[in-house]
Amino acid sequence: MHVVSPGRVCYITLRRSAPFRSSESFPMPTSSVAAVILAAGLGTRMKSDLPKVMHPVCGKPMLAHVLSLVESVDASRRVVVAGPGMDGVAALARAAGAEVAVQAERLGTAHAVLAAQEALADFSGDILVAFGDTPLIDAETLERALALKHSALDPAVVVLGFAAEDPGAYGRLIVDGAGCLLRIVEAKDASPEELAVDLCNSGVMVIDGRVAWRLLSAIGNANAKGEYYLTDIVALARAEGRACAVVEGAEEEFLGVNSRADLALVEALAQNRLRARWLAEGVTMTDPHTVYFSMDTVLGRDVTIEPFVVFGPGVTVGDGVTIKGFCHFEQARVAPGAILGPYARLRPGAEIGEGAHIGNFVEVKKSTVEAGAKVNHLTYIGDARVGAKANVGAGTITCNYDGFNKSFTDIGAGAFIGSNTSLVAPVTVGDGAIVGAGSVVTHRVPADALTVTRAPQKTVEGWAARFRDKMRALKAK
Ligand code: UD1
Ligand code: MG
Repeated sequence: MHVVSPGRVCYITLRRSAPFRSSESFPMPTSSVAAVILAAGLGTRMKSDLPKVMHPVCGKPMLAHVLSLVESVDASRRVVVAGPGMDGVAALARAAGAEVAVQAERLGTAHAVLAAQEALADFSGDILVAFGDTPLIDAETLERALALKHSALDPAVVVLGFAAEDPGAYGRLIVDGAGCLLRIVEAKDASPEELAVDLCNSGVMVIDGRVAWRLLSAIGNANAKGEYYLTDIVALARAEGRACAVVEGAEEEFLGVNSRADLALVEALAQNRLRARWLAEGVTMTDPHTVYFSMDTVLGRDVTIEPFVVFGPGVTVGDGVTIKGFCHFEQARVAPGAILGPYARLRPGAEIGEGAHIGNFVEVKKSTVEAGAKVNHLTYIGDARVGAKANVGAGTITCNYDGFNKSFTDIGAGAFIGSNTSLVAPVTVGDGAIVGAGSVVTHRVPADALTVTRAPQKTVEGWAARFRDKMRALKAK
């Protein structure tokens, strides 16, 4: 198969004798490109109330992955083609700085791209078509396609393709002996010979802006599905004597999500990429396959992560932090040298200071645990500050919620909170104060004071032995 394989972008340019290129009729190509991201599909097989492209991969909606990807290759405009009533899709697109076009009826991929024409009426550069449900494409693969588009070959269309292990329902890329793309045949319309081709259409393509809208408008729907196929643009361009080309990427980059099983597969591949990335960045993982990241996880150098740790969105971890097994974090920041877990949970707004310890079965929410503080066992810290070097004993609870409002607990630097203490917020424990175990603290504790609220201890000598004797005697009767 003669196609442009990874790292060999110039292959076609060098080999072909340019029978269909004319520099007179086609001025030198511009480098500006607008991305059109197709996202109008219903995703019926997902069996979901959420539009398919809104399902997250590594904590980020698939559509957001594709928007970031096209941004990373400098697409100067981005238009998301959504279905009617897909308000969440439109909102995400606009929040990311993209435009939204609505495809009222779902009549095929060419029809979907045409839905973006009005939004791009004032744009004359090239058109990059991507699918919102295909989130794993490497920016580098896309860069190669754009480079080929801007090469002296001056192709009308550059299609991203891949050699499929099981080509199944994918469109097949039909190339000539020199590697030039002749046409794309949808599986349903393919002959047995064409079906035997394993070079498949990813659906992603770069179309020359000078011909894009005219050729797209010329596409008909006389085919097995009665749809307007974007893929027909290749044969139309060839009929006008223009070159078309293929840039090949890895099959896994082009996995599209149609079902929850596909989503799980894409998630697994994306997780593997993040694991490899953080290992390369100097993070130790005892068993990487049991550690789950989000796209936006940030880890410092010499972080150690034991098995079974989940990083939800928005977590930043400083240098030299140790994360013991079975921890779960989201929207939290951890300063260098802290030790977390096993079984620690950091919820949104948790800020863990330098060298602080958060131990087993400790949950921290919207709270700052300052440098060197220790919260080691079975504790809930919510809406609170734990001052530097304070020690919070086992089973301490900040009672931050009265059923109506959340209130703040302030624990001063160097304070010592005895085990099984309930701190009923709003409440303040001053610097260096000691709270006796088992206290229910409802009033301010001054700095360096002792507070203890437990009932006085009463001791009755010999009572237990007398009690047992009495009970045994009763039972013997
Ligand atoms: C398409 C390609 C096929 C390729 C495959 C790769 C065509 C005709 N076929 O087929 O060659 O191998 O992708 O996965 O392009 N969409 C809309 N509006 C529409 C139709 C589709 O927005 O009217 C969107 C879908 O939401 C999806 C994308 O376009 O994100 C692709 O559509 P889909 O129906 O999945 O095309 P395939 O049949 O998979
Ligand atoms: Mg598809």
